[in-house]
Amino acid sequence: MKKTVLVSGGAGFIGSHVTVELSQAGYDVVIADNFSNCDETNYRGVCQILGRTLPLVRMDFCDKEAVDALFAQYPIDAVIHFAAFKAVGESVSEPLKYYRNNLLSFVNILETAKERGGCNVLFSSSATVYGEAEDLPVTEQTPRQPATSPYGNTKTMCEDILRDCVKAYPGIKGIALRYFNPIGAHPSALIGELPRGVPNNLVPFITQTAIGKRACLSVFGNDYPTPDGTCLRDFIDIVDLAKAHVSAVTRMLDGQMKAGYEIFNIGTGRPVSVLELINTFERVNGLKLNWKFAPRRPGDVVSIWADPSLAGKELGWKAERSLDDTLKAAWDWEKYIAGK
Ligand code: WQD
Repeated sequence: MKKTVLVSGGAGFIGSHVTVELSQAGYDVVIADNFSNCDETNYRGVCQILGRTLPLVRMDFCDKEAVDALFAQYPIDAVIHFAAFKAVGESVSEPLKYYRNNLLSFVNILETAKERGGCNVLFSSSATVYGEAEDLPVTEQTPRQPATSPYGNTKTMCEDILRDCVKAYPGIKGIALRYFNPIGAHPSALIGELPRGVPNNLVPFITQTAIGKRACLSVFGNDYPTPDGTCLRDFIDIVDLAKAHVSAVTRMLDGQMKAGYEIFNIGTGRPVSVLELINTFERVNGLKLNWKFAPRRPGDVVSIWADPSLAGKELGWKAERSLDDTLKAAWDWEKYIAGK
């Protein structure tokens, strides 16, 4: 029988790509989203890619009764939880907004799961939990550092909440995937990242500068202790990242987990500097970007990249798409959105 996966925040950037990959792998997917940080563009794109309409529930995971009703309506075998606020800067100025939304929504899901005898729960965590790591690349054993923002802290706290629930409630199994820097868009250019207002993240700022929506890209810092003086990151293609979720969900549903709670790094294992990313974007898309150096951005770590070998060994997953293809897809998506 087909298994059903609930994707909270399924209309967002990562959730929409995961929904496509899960559906194409043969899972029934239920999308639940309150559209607080996105419109229906990605949801419509998902349906267009798949050639059918997927169930969509408009709801807020902070509403426990709504979560109960959702679990009563659908035979949910696994939950992938994306619904969360994610702006690092805003989380510093409005920490309670982040703690309320990001923690309560997850607690509600876990509580409903517990009341119903358990569930398989996949949490979308982040490399932000490693902070400025001493040894690179980071493995899952690398100690977490105190978070530098309330947003980052909600990721650390949700990991711990999931770990504790798995320990206490026998029916609950959990996997946390720690994403490095997800970028790009679906090769169809029908779904992608749609930041509201001025983008915080590098690639949306690059594509918006290239299309003329932003005058100039600021490269934050040129005197870091790295080969070219700019920060190093592990940029992971969004479709590759989405496929890691299919592997993780399948591992849970097939009973292949080696412990009730597992953690995997999801990255490429290759550090790329901010300048290298810009140069690659210009080369593969045949254009010149208007950019300048600017002061360091407070809170940025200098360098972080993954050791993804555990995901390779246990999930049979590795990043496959090239940075060239990823940055072409990001540009195709920006052009598609501009033309809409
Ligand atoms: C990457 C590099 C910037 C914008 C953040 C969150 C993390 C995760 C992903 C999200 C840095 C530089 C950026 C610009 C620049 N979570 N940059 N000019 O900071 O690695 O990770 O997003 O939900 O938790 O912290 O990603 O894309 O913002 O920055 O020079 O206009 O690009 O300084 O070195 P980051 P990013």
